[in-house]
Amino acid sequence: APRSGKNHIQQRLWEDQQLKNAVQASGQTDEIHVEGSENYDFVFDEEAMVEFTAEDEDSALPDTQSGYDEKLAKELDREHERLQTIQDTRKSLPVYKFRSSLIEAIREHQVLIVVGETGSGKTTQLPQYLVEEGFTQDGKFQIACTQPRRVAATSVAARVADEMNVILGREVGYSIRFDDKTTPDTTILKYLTDGMLLREFMTDPELNKYACIIIDEAHERTLSTDVLLGLLKDILPHRKDLKLIISSATMNAAKFADFFYNAPIFNVPGRRFPVDIHYTLQPEANYLNAAVTTIFQIHTTQPLPGDILVFLTGQEEIEAAQQSLEEIAHVLGSKIKPLIIAPIYANLPQDQQSKIFEPTPKNCRKVVLATNIAETSLTINGIKYVIDPGFVKENSYVPSTGMSQLLTVPCSRASVDQRAGRAGRVGPGKCFRIFTKWSYFHELELLPKPEILRTNLSQVVLLLMSLGVTDLLDFPLLDKPGIPALSKALENIYTLGALNSKGAITRLGRMMCEFPCEPEFGKVLHTAATHDACKGCLEEAVTIVAMLHETASLFVHSKSDRDQNKSGIIGKVSSDHMLYLETYNSWRDMNYSRSWCIDHKVQYKTLLRVRNIRDQLWRCCDTLGLVALNEQAAKVINSSDRIEHRIIKSFISGFPTNIAKLGTSGYQTMGARQGGVNVSVHPTSTIFQSLRKDMAKPPKYLLYQRLVLTSKEFMRDCLPIPREDWLHEIVPHYFSSAGSQKN
Ligand code: CDP
Ligand code: MG
Repeated sequence: APRSGKNHIQQRLWEDQQLKNAVQASGQTDEIHVEGSENYDFVFDEEAMVEFTAEDEDSALPDTQSGYDEKLAKELDREHERLQTIQDTRKSLPVYKFRSSLIEAIREHQVLIVVGETGSGKTTQLPQYLVEEGFTQDGKFQIACTQPRRVAATSVAARVADEMNVILGREVGYSIRFDDKTTPDTTILKYLTDGMLLREFMTDPELNKYACIIIDEAHERTLSTDVLLGLLKDILPHRKDLKLIISSATMNAAKFADFFYNAPIFNVPGRRFPVDIHYTLQPEANYLNAAVTTIFQIHTTQPLPGDILVFLTGQEEIEAAQQSLEEIAHVLGSKIKPLIIAPIYANLPQDQQSKIFEPTPKNCRKVVLATNIAETSLTINGIKYVIDPGFVKENSYVPSTGMSQLLTVPCSRASVDQRAGRAGRVGPGKCFRIFTKWSYFHELELLPKPEILRTNLSQVVLLLMSLGVTDLLDFPLLDKPGIPALSKALENIYTLGALNSKGAITRLGRMMCEFPCEPEFGKVLHTAATHDACKGCLEEAVTIVAMLHETASLFVHSKSDRDQNKSGIIGKVSSDHMLYLETYNSWRDMNYSRSWCIDHKVQYKTLLRVRNIRDQLWRCCDTLGLVALNEQAAKVINSSDRIEHRIIKSFISGFPTNIAKLGTSGYQTMGARQGGVNVSVHPTSTIFQSLRKDMAKPPKYLLYQRLVLTSKEFMRDCLPIPREDWLHEIVPHYFSSAGSQKN
C-alpha cells in the first residue's frame, strides 16, 4: 500500500501532537505519566545518567526533549504546507474555474461530454467535485471513473487519495484486473479500468451501485470503452438518476455527442503555450539512436530547468534507450549536468512508477521514457521538450487468418499533435519529431483506428451474449465491426463450446465469462478439471495460466542470464509451459523464498503477482465447482496417464486455433481456410534451445500462445503436441473438418 507509510507518519504526528498538547496543558513538563511505568521497580536517577562530552559543541547529543519538539514542529509544519500546496494546486487547474458551471450542467443533463486539454484536471478533479457536491448521497452510491490503462487507474487513484487526504483503498480506491484496492463499505470513488467496469455488468446489469459514471479518456476508443458506451446507452432510460460523463481530449467529441442523441459538450479551455515543432530533414533509419542523440543535443544546448519526454513503443525499446543513455552519460561524466532517467510503461512495477512524478532537483534534467501512456493518460509536470519518433505499438487482427499481432505502426496525426502538446504545459516548449514534415502531411492517418476495428472480438462477443445481447448487428456502437470479424468471433467461441449449434450461449460459455481472463484460458481450466482425458490436473493448469499472464517480466533481463537460469533451475523441460510450471513449483517448494529468486534469476515481484493471480483463478474455479470435480477425478486417476500429457490436452482444448504444423519448409499455422502462414519458434523459447542443442527431431505439432512479428512471424510460449490423434480426441469438431481437410 503506497500510502500506508505516509499515514503511519501522519498518525504518529497526530499522536505526538496530542502528547505535546497534553503536556502543555498540564504545565508539568517534568512529570509525564507513561503508561506501564508503574511496573518498573527502579527510578530514573538523574545523577546516574551517563554523560557525554564532545570536543565539538555541535556534535554533542542534543537535549532530547527540546530537540524532539523542534523536529516534531518542523515535521508538522511541513505536512501542513504539503496539504496546503495540494489544495492550491487543485485551485490552479483549468477546470477549477468551471467547477460550478460543470456541476450545474451535470445536474441538468443525464449525459455530458467534457472536453479539455490534457492536464486540465478532468481525471483528478471532476470525480472529487462530484463527491464534494454530495452525488454519492452520504456514501449510499459510488462514483466510478474508468481508465483505459492500468497504470493510469492506479496512479491517479493514489494521487486523488492524497489530495483528499484519505488512505488509498478506503474512500478512494482502484480496481484493475487481479488487483482490487477498494473496500465495499467505505469506497465512494473508484478508478477502474474500462474492462473491469464491463465485467461489472455481469453481476449488476444496471450498475445500480453507481450514482455517476465517468468514462474517461474516451477518445482512446479502446474496445472496452466502446462496448461500455453501448451498454450504458442501453441502461440510461432505465436509470434516470444515473449521471454519465464522457471525458475526452480534444479529438472525437462530436462523435460522442451524436451517439448520445446530441448530448451537450462542455469545453474546458486549457492553457497551452506555443510549441515549436521541428522535423528531421530526412527519414531516420534508426529512430532509437536518433532519439538518444537528440536527448544529448537538448541537454547540452538548452537551458535548465526543462525536462524531456520521449515517446517510445514499449518496454524493450525503453530499456534499450535507458541503457544507452546511461552508458553515454557515464562516459561524459561530469562534463554534463546530471540526467535523471525515468521510464514509464504498463508493466513497470508500481513502486517504480512514481519516479516520473517526482520533482526534478535543481541543476538536473529529467528524461521520461514513456509509451503512449504519456500521450493523454498521465500528465507529467515540468516537461519542456518532447521527442517523438511517431510510432506506436498497436494490436492488429486479421479475421480471415485469425492472427493477432502487436505491430509497431506510425501514429496518427491526432496522436503526434497530442504528444507535441505535452511540451507546452509549463511554458513555451519544443517538439522534435523524428520524421519528416512530408511524412506528417502525406503519410500519417488523421485519427487512430478504433480498437474495435482491429482486434479479436471473441471475448467481447461472448460477454455480450452472456448479457443477453442476441442481435450483435443491432447493438449500438460508435463504429461497427465488419461482418467477417463478427462471424470469426462467433466461430471461435463456437469452437470452444461456448455456443450451441443454434447459436445460443451454453453453460460452459457462461462459465468461461466468469473467469477474469480470456475465454480460451477459461476453457483450458474447465477441461483440466472435467474432461475424461485430462481431469485431475487443475492445480498445474491454473499455475501455468497464471504464469502466462506475467511472462513479460518473469526472468531477469539479459539473454545469457535467461538461458543460464533455465538450465540452472530445471535442466530439461519439454516446453515453455512446463518451464513455467516447474519454476513456480520450485519457488513454492522453497517457501516462496526471495533468495531462491535471486539465485535463479527470476523476478521475485513477478512471482508474487503470479501467486496472487493464481489464488484468484483458483477461487474462481472453486466457486464454479471445478475444484471439487477435479478432486474427485484426482482420486481415481490412472497414474500411468502422465500429468504432462493431460496438461497438453487441456491447452489443446482452449487453443485449437493456435497450432502450427511442421511442413517441408518449417512450421505453418493450421485452421485458416486459405492455407497456413509460415511461423518460427521464437529464440527465447525453450523449444528453440532444445532444437539447437540436441538436434532433436522437431515436434510435428506445436501449440503457441502468441505470435509476434519482428523480422519474421514468431511463436512465443510453445508447447509441443507429441501425438496427432490428440487433436482429434480433444477437439474433434474442429480438426475433423478444418484440420484434416486442409492437410
Ligand atoms: O485528466 P486531465 O488530463 O485533464 O488532468 P489530470 O490528470 O486530472 O491532471 C491534473 C494535474 O494533476 C496535472 O497537473 C498533473 O500533473 C497532476 N497529477 C500529478 O501530479 N500526479 C498524478 N499522479 C496525477 C496528476
Ligand atoms: Mg485525464
